[in-house]
Amino acid sequence: MKQILTWLIIAICVSTANGQSPLIIPPALSGTTFNLTVQSGTHTFFPGYSTPTYGVNGAFLGPTLIINQGDSVHLNVTNSLPVTTTMHWHGLHVPAMADGGPEQIISPGTTWQPVIKMMNNAGTYWYHPHGEGKTDLQVSKGIAGMIIVKDPVEAALTLPRTYGVDDFPVIVQTKAFDVLRQIAIATEDDTLLMVNGTLDPYLDAPAQVVRLRLLAGSSMRSYMFGFSGNLPFKLIANDGGLLDTSTTLTRIRLSPGERAEVLLDLTGKTGQTIYLRNFGSELPAGIYGSAVAGTGAAVIPFYNLNHLNGSDFDVMKLNVVAPTASPVTSIPAALATLAPWPASTADTTRTFSFDPKIADSSTYAMGPFTINDTSFNMGNVNVVTHINNTEIWTLINNTMIAHPFHVHDVFFYILDINGVPPPVYERGKKDVVLVMPGDTVRFITKFEDFADETTPYMYHCHLLHHEDDGMMGQFIVMPDKTAVKPVNKDADIQLYPNPAKSSLTITTNNQTPSPTDNLTIYNAIGAKVYSAPLQHSHTVSTSNWPSGIYHAVITVNNKVINKAFVVE
Ligand code: C2O
Ligand code: CU
Ligand code: CU
Repeated sequence: MKQILTWLIIAICVSTANGQSPLIIPPALSGTTFNLTVQSGTHTFFPGYSTPTYGVNGAFLGPTLIINQGDSVHLNVTNSLPVTTTMHWHGLHVPAMADGGPEQIISPGTTWQPVIKMMNNAGTYWYHPHGEGKTDLQVSKGIAGMIIVKDPVEAALTLPRTYGVDDFPVIVQTKAFDVLRQIAIATEDDTLLMVNGTLDPYLDAPAQVVRLRLLAGSSMRSYMFGFSGNLPFKLIANDGGLLDTSTTLTRIRLSPGERAEVLLDLTGKTGQTIYLRNFGSELPAGIYGSAVAGTGAAVIPFYNLNHLNGSDFDVMKLNVVAPTASPVTSIPAALATLAPWPASTADTTRTFSFDPKIADSSTYAMGPFTINDTSFNMGNVNVVTHINNTEIWTLINNTMIAHPFHVHDVFFYILDINGVPPPVYERGKKDVVLVMPGDTVRFITKFEDFADETTPYMYHCHLLHHEDDGMMGQFIVMPDKTAVKPVNKDADIQLYPNPAKSSLTITTNNQTPSPTDNLTIYNAIGAKVYSAPLQHSHTVSTSNWPSGIYHAVITVNNKVINKAFVVE
């Protein structure tokens, strides 16, 4: 069935790959109050089929939010879906409560109203849902939109910045569809390519310097963008805004979640046709989007059936038309001042290793995958840091597929990839970095604002299938160094090692438990094997306990928390 559909789609694509439809430019909203309604709708991707979709203030995708640095902004997100959702502001530096992670659930019929102060630099960011286990489905069905931040540094430069005229949002997505032409979530997203939701798009671009804000918005696919005829372009910004200088490139690789602002000088090219292309054949093996999504002996057979993987194809046609009245015709060399933290200033270093969850799946690109041998658990805080801590994070990919690692709250500077400084297009402020199989990437970041003892931020793989499968962790930013543990919720209780061998340690955040707080451990048939007044930390000898499943039942403030663990 799968193969039949694939062939059917190829036929459709081939018959229409000529740049037939004007690129949809999502409506822009600006000001300080943004009313966003998440809703369901339908869209025609296949002639004669109406496909159910989700969108924001419309049937598919959402408006572009244009926000000035320094503004206090009201984001009113109303959920008119029949299911819960969340809304995350990818790349924005906002308090954990406003971040829209899996905990900030928006129930059907309700409105979530975070108020944020825009602290980011001018740049291209985006928003999308982030519900536990639901991100891929909801993003794939169409909930995503661009955020453009403006600031005085950017405003002082001679750059194209008229939205939809010489400054264009370019949200590139590939999606999977099932045989009923419904948007499917799958380990691949290989059926249709679209830009801003437009199939087979063309853009009338004026014959002057134009700015494309590229967002790699697929669930899984990475792109190797370039232009027909190897037309050079200038990279001016990546994830976190302007680079220090503009750089001439002919290719830029973007993985899910990453952004790049590129300038194309079309001066004097009126009447010409230029294609934005994906050079998928140039993506190294191991990246989803290349011919071989996983490296190593075994390759999942149906990756090889995918017509987009490993091939070069047009993403969008640019028809160069007459210039506008006051065109930008030159590109500044110097852009912004970047001040990366020197590696020597790091207070803490941490390591994050990516591994297959099940050893046998190590030869596959499918997962599930873990970070530090742990799957996402809303009840667990994986990393506790504190305000003003400067940290080096070392990412080690022990799997056969490349993972785009993303961290919320902060941006980072890549220090090195296997000991070598990053390529030019990965310098600057990043919030996603693609870690190739076998690679080690180090970055430096600083947790400068927004202490919150109870609300975590996320870090995760931005392949949405991997994220939903648990390749995600949580961190909490404490107000100071001496505040040891986050407080409240079942996130408070840590049991380790699990499985326990000779002993089990149980810690709670609760530094001073009340006398009525209690820890009791039951075996699998419900017999009490241990009971004691709760302390901040217990170590229980398990060496004489038969192996099996046990339950630690902790009573805190009359709240009962039950956590299972295993004795080996
Ligand atoms: Cu684009 Cu955790 O998100
Ligand atoms: Cu994010
Ligand atoms: Cu991944």
